[in-house]
Amino acid sequence: MELLTTIALRQSVRRFAPDRVPMHICAELLAAAALAPSPHGRQPWQFVVLETAEARETIISAMATEWRQQLAHDSHDAAQIDTRVEASTQRIQSAPLLIMPCVDCAVLDTYPDDNRQHAEYLMAVQSIGCAIQNMLLRAVDLGYDAGWMCAPLFCPETVQVALTLPKTTIPQALITVGIAHAQPKRRAKRDFTKLTQYR
Ligand SMILES: Cc1cc2nc3c(=O)[nH]c(=O)nc-3n(C[C@H](O)[C@H](O)[C@H](O)COP(=O)(O)O)c2cc1C
Repeated sequence: MELLTTIALRQSVRRFAPDRVPMHICAELLAAAALAPSPHGRQPWQFVVLETAEARETIISAMATEWRQQLAHDSHDAAQIDTRVEASTQRIQSAPLLIMPCVDCAVLDTYPDDNRQHAEYLMAVQSIGCAIQNMLLRAVDLGYDAGWMCAPLFCPETVQVALTLPKTTIPQALITVGIAHAQPKRRAKRDFTKLTQYR
């Protein structure tokens, strides 16, 4: 597919048809991710493919428990909490393929001061965004759709414990992949000239 066509066709899909995503397609997405630019060329990433029902259930239930606590802390009522958590849980459960991109801090440079250490971490986060975008575009290229959920970013320690990840592996997102149940309404994009300054 022509590059700009692929870029333009990509959109966030939040509801998928039940069709399975074959593991060779998953491998194609991960191979595209691995081609992304990264700080020092170090590819500070781990992609956790939630392949088994047990892994999925573990992560869904751990994230739901923490999110319930966060919403209660924000003073949402019980009915609102149920609705929001159940919708999110259902969305994750029904996604044919789930990939959790994580930043791998173990391969980053270390600095004695917080500023440079923070910049090093930010570079890793920027690069995983590039890797994720590669995956999203490759999915479109292969006739699939994908969505981006930020949920793990809000409970990284819970996810680490649930999946027995080391503390240096920091979950960033949950990428859902499948074939769209129906084409979502396309969101209007801001004109790039409004996002640009020439100095
Ligand atoms: C860092 C990041 C986090 C996002 N988190 C979520 C999310 O938690 N839930 C969701 O439905 N979409 C999420 N999205 C998708 C955006 O809502 C979506 O990209 C935006 O609305 C533009 O729509 P489009 O992707 O169809 O162009 C996220 C996107 C990014 C880049």
